[in-house]
Amino acid sequence: MSKLNVLIAYLSYSGNTKETAELIESGLKARGIRVDMYQIGVSPPVNPEHYDLILIGTFTWDMGSTPDEVKDFVLEIGYKPENVAVFGTGDTQFGGDDLFCLAAVKLAKFYGSRWEPLKIEQSPRGSQEKKVEKWLEGVLEDAFAGKSEDIRAHVFK
Ligand SMILES: Cc1cc2nc3c(=O)[nH]c(=O)nc-3n(C[C@H](O)[C@H](O)[C@H](O)COP(=O)(O)O)c2cc1C
Repeated sequence: MSKLNVLIAYLSYSGNTKETAELIESGLKARGIRVDMYQIGVSPPVNPEHYDLILIGTFTWDMGSTPDEVKDFVLEIGYKPENVAVFGTGDTQFGGDDLFCLAAVKLAKFYGSRWEPLKIEQSPRGSQEKKVEKWLEGVLEDAFAGKSEDIRAHVFK
């Protein structure tokens, strides 16, 4: 097992973002990476400094808005870690491409994330599972590029 620690912090009301978080969790665990799941608005405070990579998941609502719980979580973190990647779920029926997953887009911009946010249309189950896996592969490739061969062997199957 590698000693990499990843935090997946997500907010989900109707389950789509939770499913996406769980798919990402599976992908990480399959690579031998330790994962902590954190439910925004529910879990006790967490120290982001303990993690090699922080993945934040949010849905979008109310004309492209970010849920208050996610805003509170960002305030709670209180600084901008350099290792944040963002994933989101949304629905193009609520305003087309311009508003689709806009909360995730804004969050990634706020953190100056190196990675394009992952945007999932509602549930990730089915054809979009490949999209989740490809995004995760890209994030890991870049996040752990400088790490030792030992770690790389675990991360990249
Ligand atoms: C009132 C309302 C407004 C929404 N507005 C947007 C929006 O502006 N942009 C978007 O991409 N999705 C929008 N959605 C869709 C949700 O983001 C989408 O269903 C999401 O997957 C829900 O996540 P959850 O299942 O994790 O709670 C909206 C949904 C509701 C109910």
